[in-house]
Amino acid sequence: MTDLADIADVGRDARRGGYSRHGFDRVELELRQWFTEEATRRGLDVVPDRNGNLWAWWGKPGPDAVVTGSHLDSVPGGGAFDGPLGVVSALQAIDLLRAKNFSPAKSIALVVFVEEEGGRFGVACLGSRLMTGAISAEAACKLTDPDGVSFGEAAHKAGFDPLRMGRDEQALRNIGRFVELHVEQGRGLDVPVGLASSILAHGRWRFTFTGEGNHAGATLIEDRRDPMLPASQLVLAARRAATGGARATVGRIVPNPGGTNVIASSVDVWLDARAADDARTREVVAAISEAAASAAREEGCEVRVTEESYGDTVHFDTGLRDEISGVLGGVPALPTGAGHDAGILAGHVPTTMLFVRNPTGVSHAPAEHAEADDCAAGVVALASTLEHLAR
Ligand code: GLV
Ligand code: MN
Ligand code: MN
Ligand code: MN
Repeated sequence: MTDLADIADVGRDARRGGYSRHGFDRVELELRQWFTEEATRRGLDVVPDRNGNLWAWWGKPGPDAVVTGSHLDSVPGGGAFDGPLGVVSALQAIDLLRAKNFSPAKSIALVVFVEEEGGRFGVACLGSRLMTGAISAEAACKLTDPDGVSFGEAAHKAGFDPLRMGRDEQALRNIGRFVELHVEQGRGLDVPVGLASSILAHGRWRFTFTGEGNHAGATLIEDRRDPMLPASQLVLAARRAATGGARATVGRIVPNPGGTNVIASSVDVWLDARAADDARTREVVAAISEAAASAAREEGCEVRVTEESYGDTVHFDTGLRDEISGVLGGVPALPTGAGHDAGILAGHVPTTMLFVRNPTGVSHAPAEHAEADDCAAGVVALASTLEHLAR
């Protein structure tokens, strides 16, 4: 809590409430500097990788390390815990292990991934996707923020070489096991600490509806081709399609040009869809796409769909989970609907997650919260996990 208090004023969003911290923006760079100082003060060696992620090493950097960490960026107007809790808990876990004179036989590394939320460049888990090759450097560097700044430009400005980005075999070899601690993001945990079992299949789709820009007062209703109409139908279709545990959300709509007295010429709508498996997720998106296409036709508009990112269901390593549960004296394992860098890494290295209880189930919002006692239990659990894995 003291560490979270340390960064409590960095990146507050007065307009939206909560925090807006995005990959390589001024605020995230300040947080990375803070992390670098905190890690260095603890005698860890901070080494950035080629893809914009920061590593802090206890022991020699090299293969088969025990790795933990999370991210410092947030969604627009997000909470204080999603991301930073995993980073500060890692620092605190190191303190606990140092205090008991633990000497790791395996190196331990703390990692801070860049742009986990995709709040600036649109693709979530960008740092871990680059590291694993789930996205190419070329595709990542072309992504732009709302001001038109590309990820490549932002990375370059932050001191990274876009030409050296991409799948990082050495970083992957260095991760023997990966454990990310995170605040739980629903109401799935009724004890202080749990372990993750799986992540829903999920992705992001952009629908661009094109109609005819015109005057809000002078254009007769029957003469309009207003792309806001099919865009609105998409929102309703998303709610209708998300049955049986599936989730479909429209959290962002951008009409162009965006004037009160202007019929938009085009509208971009972003759909976030998640479900238990690939087939069900595809089915939900197909139903929504069909409704969107039919509503567009009815209004004389066109619609183009772009899949911006997608990942199938993640099942975390059961052996590692059972091992850690044993170390912690038996803790519940729960599925989650939220995506994580751990979910990207799970396809490459033995990975699991520790969850800290969320008393209200609110996340990705300013009210996101975890109790101090539960956070402390998380730190103790993470320290025991690292101690066990690095011994
Ligand atoms: C990340 O937190 C996500 O699930 O979108
Ligand atoms: Mn998040
Ligand atoms: Mn997160
Ligand atoms: Mn006028």
